[in-house]
Amino acid sequence: MHYHIAKGVFDILPQDPDPQSAWKESHLWQYLEGVVRELAKEFGFREIRTPLFETTELFTRSIGTGTDIVNKEMYTFLDKAERSLTLRPEGTAPVMRAFIEKNLEQQSPIHKFFYINPMFRYERSQAGRYRQHHQFGVEAIGSALPYQDAEAIHLLWTLYNRLGLKELTLHLNSIGDQEARQQFKHALKMYLRPHLSELSPESQERYETNPLRILDSKDSQDQKYVREAPHIMDYLNPVSSVHFEQVCKTLDSLGIPYQINHRLVRGLDYYNNTVFEITSNELGAQNSLGGGGRYDGLIKQLGGPDLPAFGFGAGLERIIQTMLAQKTALPEPERSDLLFIPLGDEAAVHCFQLVCRLREQHIKAEMDLTGKKLKNALRYADSTKVRYVAVVGENELKTGEVDLKEMETGTIRHLSLDKLVPHIINSLQLRNPQSSGVE
Ligand code: HAM
Repeated sequence: MHYHIAKGVFDILPQDPDPQSAWKESHLWQYLEGVVRELAKEFGFREIRTPLFETTELFTRSIGTGTDIVNKEMYTFLDKAERSLTLRPEGTAPVMRAFIEKNLEQQSPIHKFFYINPMFRYERSQAGRYRQHHQFGVEAIGSALPYQDAEAIHLLWTLYNRLGLKELTLHLNSIGDQEARQQFKHALKMYLRPHLSELSPESQERYETNPLRILDSKDSQDQKYVREAPHIMDYLNPVSSVHFEQVCKTLDSLGIPYQINHRLVRGLDYYNNTVFEITSNELGAQNSLGGGGRYDGLIKQLGGPDLPAFGFGAGLERIIQTMLAQKTALPEPERSDLLFIPLGDEAAVHCFQLVCRLREQHIKAEMDLTGKKLKNALRYADSTKVRYVAVVGENELKTGEVDLKEMETGTIRHLSLDKLVPHIINSLQLRNPQSSGVE
């Protein structure tokens, strides 16, 4: 009996046998997560961890009943007490729930959270689109200043720069307040009405349920109508307009290039004013590396205090895929420094002691545990790319000397077992003076 992985999800392995799946190797995820954590810290964001599932209503209320996520994509189930629960399809609503539930506004006027979490959406699986994906997200609560918008966008832009990503486009738009959107929705429907029967079936459906989403339709049938559609920016009130101008000005002062994209509306209902998305032309149809915006009404709508907020989510799968496609500098997989291969029981006892001593010195040492033929031990050494190998048999125990083989160069050094530990420490220090072999 063979079990298969469920559709639309993937394993992250130390090494994936398929070269096309290199983006699923754990050392790349650890590297990316490390850079993310460091950067979030530099910008003053602190980590929040919320559960994998929440009550279903939290998501329907916040994301919106006319959205694809709520309509088609949620993993919803009843627990044994018949409560409706949903696997987290996105990170904002759970953070708001935690913020409200714990009365965190009493603690401080501003909160800046970040998270790295798996998200679950029942989507049509295709390249770049998964049923479990991972997001680095930030949620900044309490500031209505345009600097807050600019800070979060700057953070994401800096992340991509630090990772060495190139040729990215920052799309920026403002969708104003509820009143502006209401007026714009009306204008958009009036404009589209005469062409309704020529629009794609999906857009025809959205005409009633969520007309703004017609603007970001990728269907070729819709393009010529969407291109000429009215701009939401023309419906903003003066406060929204000034806010947007200030966001743009701050991004200008930071030297961050952007494009005003009148078609950018985002797929979740909670946004107001600034919205943004960063795309890569390396990714094909699913080209959004990250996106977000301001959501000033959401906390109140969920029963909390009336506080402004801004946040984004960025897909880790797509970031790693772009890094590989653009051949950015990537770390090597983690490897052990030394593998002892004992031949026989007495040698095993001795090697086990040696390995423990080396680990006390923070040297990554292992003893072969295949316990079978030398060939198997060497296969293990090869596949894990260990730096040094020492075979210890009866003869070595008798003489107290071993051959230490450097696997990369094939160089062999004859050493007394006593000198082995200082020798390894020395050579690792020479290789990497800062870390003294400890990573
Ligand atoms: P979102 O645009 O739905 O926003 O998702 C954010 C990012 O997650 C996308 O830009 C993309 O990189 C990645 N992503 C989304 N769905 C998938 C998928 N099925 N497979 C692979 N990657 C995916 C949100 O979720 C908002 N909560 C962002 C936010 C936070 N807004 C304010 N705060």
